[in-house]
Amino acid sequence: MPLSNKYFKKLRQKFAKELALHQKYDSWDRVIDHCLAVAARVDALSRLLNIPPKLRTQIVSAALVHDFYKRKQIELITQNGLPGYSQSISQSSQHLLEAGFDSTIAQLASSSEISNHPLLTTYATLGEISLDQLAMLIVAYCDFVTTEADWAIPSTVKENDIDRRAVLLSRKKVYQILDSSAFTSMCRVGHLIEKKFASLLNIPYLNLPEVIDSYIKSELLDF
Ligand SMILES: [Fe+2]
Repeated sequence: MPLSNKYFKKLRQKFAKELALHQKYDSWDRVIDHCLAVAARVDALSRLLNIPPKLRTQIVSAALVHDFYKRKQIELITQNGLPGYSQSISQSSQHLLEAGFDSTIAQLASSSEISNHPLLTTYATLGEISLDQLAMLIVAYCDFVTTEADWAIPSTVKENDIDRRAVLLSRKKVYQILDSSAFTSMCRVGHLIEKKFASLLNIPYLNLPEVIDSYIKSELLDF
């Protein structure tokens, strides 16, 4: 994605507090770029789904901070395995609250974590869900499909960027310490969420990443 575009410049200005948190915790540049790409996608998907502006701002804020603790998380997983992973999630939520982010943003920021997969499955399969539940699905889904800050690769008849990202993540040494079923779960939950959104938008489900990116290209980058 063209992260130097004026849309991303405005995003960085409006959400300076979120980016300051990345600086404080010494985030890698590629993690910041990934968070900016997830933020653009949640912004686009929220607009496509008519999420009210106040909640949309919280969703974008959560997307921007969702990986601010990544460096420390990897350290904790390397040291303590699965318990280290759980520690990293509670610590990052605590740091978000201490930094003045509200509880909605702190909760949304951890939407895509493995521990939330059962909840995401429930929300994705319920007929009627609340706006807050929808917000959680939006943040998790956009993280699932976003590899660094790349545009969506066109889907095939069988797979899209969720499946491709799961393969990439499962090859990373640090994640091999975690439960290997996490990536199968990510694909299953990701496609369930995708089917829900695709039915709301009336599109083939595997095309959702491309639909989101088309919206970013045609609507947001000209903002
Ligand atoms: Fe992420």
